Amino acid sequence: MTIEDFILKTIQANVTTGSVSWQSPSNIALVKYWGKYGEQLPKNTSISFTLSNCHTKTKLHYTPSNTHKFEFEVYLDGQRAESFEPKILKFFERIEVYMPFLKQFKFRIETGNSFPHSSGIASSASGMSALALCLMSLERLTNSDITDEYFYAKASFLARLGSGSACRSIQGPLVVWGEHPVLPGSSQLIGTTLPFEIHDNFKDYCDTILLVDQGEKVVSSTVGHDLMHNHPFAEQRFNQANQNFEAILEVLKTGDFDKFISIVESEALSLHAMMMTSEPYFLLMKPNTLSIIHKIWEFRRETSSKICFTLDAGANVHVLYPNAEKEEVSRFIENELAVFCENGKYIHDVVGIGAKVLL
Ligand code: DP6
Repeated sequence: MTIEDFILKTIQANVTTGSVSWQSPSNIALVKYWGKYGEQLPKNTSISFTLSNCHTKTKLHYTPSNTHKFEFEVYLDGQRAESFEPKILKFFERIEVYMPFLKQFKFRIETGNSFPHSSGIASSASGMSALALCLMSLERLTNSDITDEYFYAKASFLARLGSGSACRSIQGPLVVWGEHPVLPGSSQLIGTTLPFEIHDNFKDYCDTILLVDQGEKVVSSTVGHDLMHNHPFAEQRFNQANQNFEAILEVLKTGDFDKFISIVESEALSLHAMMMTSEPYFLLMKPNTLSIIHKIWEFRRETSSKICFTLDAGANVHVLYPNAEKEEVSRFIENELAVFCENGKYIHDVVGIGAKVLL
């Protein structure tokens, strides 16, 4: 699909007042997106597990308006959240060319996350994908001819323009973003699901998110991506990620746990290595992040566990393991890792199949 395919050309029906609602999950990247160009296009291919318990629910109320301006209000958990509005305005400005009807409505956006606000879990992927899906439901009311395939592709396209990784939060269980020669159908513009059956070993993976630091991040992802311009190791990093992507595709077919672990942990540490070698440099890991990593390595050495870790752009640790190990790993987390979490908090999650409409 090309960018032009996502421009709405015909509005067939008049839409009156109403509302639409979606629940959209967070995702955790196995091969990381870090570095972008143009209008939210990734410098390398990434792939993520879609989560399920960590999600955003968004209800979009719309009513026709003729002010010819963007008109909306955002509510988080029932309270007006004006601090979110500049980001949404920027999003609307960016997507207006693809959705020329936006200024014909006044919106009330009611949103809420299943995870605590200040948990350090990024809500931009689940939040932007939920909003993009609501807007697509509205677009479908103006044009009932659109297929499901187009609906989800355009939702991913729009979500990407809100936050890059959000384009991987529409479907599941594994979503690729970024064109790669070994995967026909992969795209710079949208997240796509894998065109082959994944090995049973990876079908019911678990992700326990250890909340190491629930404070505001010192450097946002957007700023971090920007620092990849003129970064001394940028090109090597993009090549490494593209090679890791190719390798992980094989692993997902063959079920090789050990190779999975080495790719996923290396990706997490490479991502943070980019942060530490940016100009200016920064560090998002905390001492407890490192303590947890060492504990996980020790546990793996001493047992036959296939547990591993990954990190997003923050201090929290995502602990990944097969569902078959759930009991032992849950015990290990409670007994040995919870102590490194702020207020002992962590969230159990599992791989999910993507967003769902709420009635
Ligand atoms: C480390 O998608 O949050 O989580 O496109 O600027 O909104 P923007 O950035 P964002 O970056 C996510 C980076 C990451 C890795 C990943 O999810 O692939």
